[in-house]
Amino acid sequence: MLIDTYGRVATDLRVSLTDRCNLRCTYCMPEEGLAWLAKPELLTDDETVRLVRIAVTLLGVTEVRFTGGEPLLRRGLVDIVERCAALRADGADGARPRLSLTTNGIGLARSADALKAAGLDRVNVSLDTLRPDAFAALTRRRRHQDVLDGLAAARAAGLEPVKVNTVLMPGLNEDEAPDLLAWAVENGYELRFIEQMPLDAQHGWRRERMITAGDILTSLRTRFDLTPEPGPERGSAPAERWLVDGGPARVGVIGSVTRPFCAACDRTRLTADGQVRTCLFATEETDLRGALRSGAGDEEIAALWRRAMRGKKAGSGLDDPAFLQPRRPMSAIGG
Ligand code: 5AD
Ligand code: SF4
Repeated sequence: MLIDTYGRVATDLRVSLTDRCNLRCTYCMPEEGLAWLAKPELLTDDETVRLVRIAVTLLGVTEVRFTGGEPLLRRGLVDIVERCAALRADGADGARPRLSLTTNGIGLARSADALKAAGLDRVNVSLDTLRPDAFAALTRRRRHQDVLDGLAAARAAGLEPVKVNTVLMPGLNEDEAPDLLAWAVENGYELRFIEQMPLDAQHGWRRERMITAGDILTSLRTRFDLTPEPGPERGSAPAERWLVDGGPARVGVIGSVTRPFCAACDRTRLTADGQVRTCLFATEETDLRGALRSGAGDEEIAALWRRAMRGKKAGSGLDDPAFLQPRRPMSAIGG
């Protein structure tokens, strides 16, 4: 198992497959000038699958989420998914890991069926606005329709539930929460708002300028009746979920900054260049690529991963006056 000194167990692995992206969301990347990882630094498909295999068979990981940058830009994606779907946990149940993808949706219209056939279970598609012009302002690219097409294709392929991730930004889409929710309910997508976090490459995040979970709920309640979703406690799920007008439709709000869920975190992360990160906001990484390439065995790599986990901090440190933004932006860490 991957267990930290606070007793948290990581069963959910986020694997970044590339730091590149075909959008330039303002809360993530600068307009230009961000340096990419060089090809030799990236894990190969074989190396990636090997590390996922170690996580699933030796370390108790049950969920694998592929992220980026934009993971659909990774040429070997379908093959990687297929090979990960063939993995089985060690032990009596021998379950296969659940597989999901966080994507901006561009190109998903073309690949949704192949991904489903390869064994992908679910997708989260990022979409912040219903207005093409606001989309262009937020992402610096005119690709709004591509995202809508990708979403529809994911639903048609049965990659369900199709979740939509939305970040609200002041002056750009902050007034759109009720419209987005009405649209998501109508289309059968599960909408989740994510508070903007200080992970942009250009360090433009300002706490006093962010739209908070409280703001989002207030805005949604101007049009919808929201009641806390009954059932099991929030657990390790970062989203607080609400029934919309009595259900069954739901909406999630992820208050990463104002309502942190670090105490229940069950994540471990692998960057595209083979570094383990125990937290989005970690300032330290553990190099598995070096170990891989110098011939380490599976057990040795598992031991490095376990040791990294023991260094996991209690929280993100966002509220500490000495908080330092991680050196790498979100696109290089994996969301
Ligand atoms: N704060 C919050 N969410 C972010 N994302 C990217 N950068 C940030 C940020 N600074 C979102 C993307 C995507 C998910 C992986 O994280 O929109 O939905
Ligand atoms: Fe690309 Fe996602 Fe970053 Fe937007 S947030 S630039 S879609 S990696």
